[in-house]
Amino acid sequence: MTEAPASAFTPRVFSGIQPSGGLTLGNYLGAIKRFVEMQGDSFETIYCMVDLHAITTWQDPAVLRRNTRELCAGFLAAGIDPEQSVLINQSQVPEHAQLGWMFSCVARMGWMKRMTQFKDKAGKNAEAASLGLFGYPALMAADILIYHATHVPVGEDQKQHLELTRDIAAKFNHDYGVDFFPMTEPVIEGAATRVMSLRDGAKKMSKSDPSDMSRINMTDDADAIAKKIRKAKTDPEPLPETLDGLKDRPEARNLVNIYAALSDTTAEQVIAEHAGQQFGTFKPALVDLAVDRLAPISSEMARLMEAPDEIDAILARGAERARAIAAPILKQTYEIVGMVG
Ligand code: TYM
Repeated sequence: MTEAPASAFTPRVFSGIQPSGGLTLGNYLGAIKRFVEMQGDSFETIYCMVDLHAITTWQDPAVLRRNTRELCAGFLAAGIDPEQSVLINQSQVPEHAQLGWMFSCVARMGWMKRMTQFKDKAGKNAEAASLGLFGYPALMAADILIYHATHVPVGEDQKQHLELTRDIAAKFNHDYGVDFFPMTEPVIEGAATRVMSLRDGAKKMSKSDPSDMSRINMTDDADAIAKKIRKAKTDPEPLPETLDGLKDRPEARNLVNIYAALSDTTAEQVIAEHAGQQFGTFKPALVDLAVDRLAPISSEMARLMEAPDEIDAILARGAERARAIAAPILKQTYEIVGMVG
């Protein structure tokens, strides 16, 4: 049985973000900014607030509602056009959960046990983690494959989940002797596929880090952005002449990557322009750049949050468009599997 070539399917992008806390600069550079860049003529684009994923750990209902709308405001403020892209929250498109169940029956326990994100999130007390947290990657595969998506832009930390998505598609196709689900391509590109904590270059920037100084939030104002960058951990050396010189300097490398991603260049170009500079010079340049790029997004998010009804209307319309794609694919899946309909 040969793999379904992605080219046999409509070029379609899907990606999702959990509304389980504020958006960070990591989410922006690793995901949302890339989502905006992929909008256009070559792909249909579907972007999702994965609220069903968020509840794999307990969420206060009022906070979840607010976070979902705020995430939608973040997508819009960053440049997602709700006409060009389909913008949805996962729970309004029930086909995700329906295909998720089917994939829970395809994925193997052994595959799921290898997922490093489960180990990280469940921590030492895995017995107390929800079953949903363990089964989460099967639902993630369904998010993607319910649209026969061919390309999925994500940050580096989602790579293993996308490999599992391909394994699930291949096993389904093999078990039922069909060529039905595509082999989705992960798109992990750009200068900042793994933005690190501003306090510790060995840790990923994350919304769950207890220290707010470790991350830039997309809702931070200019003063907060400036303060966090000025206080970011660095080392006493100036920036080197070549990228190689940053090999054992994770904090310095992180700031260079952030600069490159925000200015739409590469880390090599940033080094070429700033070689020999001390952080006393480089950090203020990064502050100016970050405030220039991020402050308009945060103020637009605040403006959009004043009209939650408009956000809800965009999500309702998105759900309708998404279901028009997802429902026939679910129906065909049921037929393949042998459900009487
Ligand atoms: P989530 O909500 O943790 O993160 C959303 C996106 O942001 C990226 N990201 C980062 N990129 C670079 N540096 C960082 N420090 C950083 N932190 C987060 C993530 O890689 C991701 O692209 N399981 C997913 C959500 C999901 C999904 C999907 C994604 C559910 N279904 C289907 C793609 C397709 C998650 O928890 O992402």
